[in-house]
Amino acid sequence: MAAGIAEVALLAGFEVVVRSRTERGAADLVAQVSKSLGKRVERGKLESHVRDTALQHLTTTTTLEDLSRGSIVIESVVEDYEQKMLLLRQLDSVMPVGSIIATNTSTLSVSDLALATLQPDRVCGIHFFNPATTMPLVEVIRPATASQSTIEAALAFVAACGKDAVLVRDDPGFIVNALLFPYLNNAIKMMERGTASIDDIDTAMKGGCNFPMGPFALLDLVGLDTSLSIIETLHAASGKDADRPAESLVRLVGEGHLGRKTGRGFHTY
Ligand SMILES: NC(=O)c1ccc[n+]([C@@H]2O[C@H](COP(=O)([O-])OP(=O)(O)OC[C@H]3O[C@@H](n4cnc5c(N)ncnc54)[C@H](O)[C@@H]3O)[C@@H](O)[C@H]2O)c1
Repeated sequence: MAAGIAEVALLAGFEVVVRSRTERGAADLVAQVSKSLGKRVERGKLESHVRDTALQHLTTTTTLEDLSRGSIVIESVVEDYEQKMLLLRQLDSVMPVGSIIATNTSTLSVSDLALATLQPDRVCGIHFFNPATTMPLVEVIRPATASQSTIEAALAFVAACGKDAVLVRDDPGFIVNALLFPYLNNAIKMMERGTASIDDIDTAMKGGCNFPMGPFALLDLVGLDTSLSIIETLHAASGKDADRPAESLVRLVGEGHLGRKTGRGFHTY
């Protein structure tokens, strides 16, 4: 997600600084952005000089303090509450007064994350969809703690990126994932019951609902670890047994099969 968000911001004309924990991680991200922009040029969708300028505006660092020139920072690390909380606290101490801090979390409570910082009024959610480069929607999540100016700055950033924003209260799963993930979880349970195969369920939801991809292909695209984390958060919020994560999802994540990013999930790539 980080590479996609960086690419969107670069094409919108922003200077982007990406902080990775390792030089290797930073190099991988630049390679991803460069490859994706190169594909746009090959397809005739982007002038090569625009790609070159965008890449000149991308710098990477492994030092958090190097983000301190920014007016907005978006964290997009692994969907884990402890890691995000720790990172937001650190960002709060390095980001200048007047800047805003956003999280790309898929389901974690933005209010809880904001309250981990000393300035919760400048924390909100800016939730991109996968792939960020092509999906038009961004959810702007407004925790009760956020100031009006934070939300306005977030909405202005999303508009500048050419995306359509929806403003949503900080409820579990926001809009899209609250509606989407019960369906994805139920698709796995349907397969487990033996109603139909993975391929047939994918085919059915494409042909029967005009969805661009079936539930298993989508779970693999999102990443099974991220998907499990989202479903666990929704389950914890509802407390309903019906929302418990499907067994095969838990098993695949335990085995390290995380979807497209590891080459195997419900499908093999
Ligand atoms: N995958 C999706 O479809 C999707 C869509 C929207 C939002 N999100 C959200 O975006 C975030 C990232 O998801 P992803 O799919 O890119 O996950 P991913 O597992 O593909 O990537 C996470 C990256 O974060 C890095 N990382 C982990 N801890 C870190 C830390 N403390 N500091 C710096 N880097 C760290 C990892 O090395 C990895 O490169 C999550 O919050 C997720 O919920 C994901």
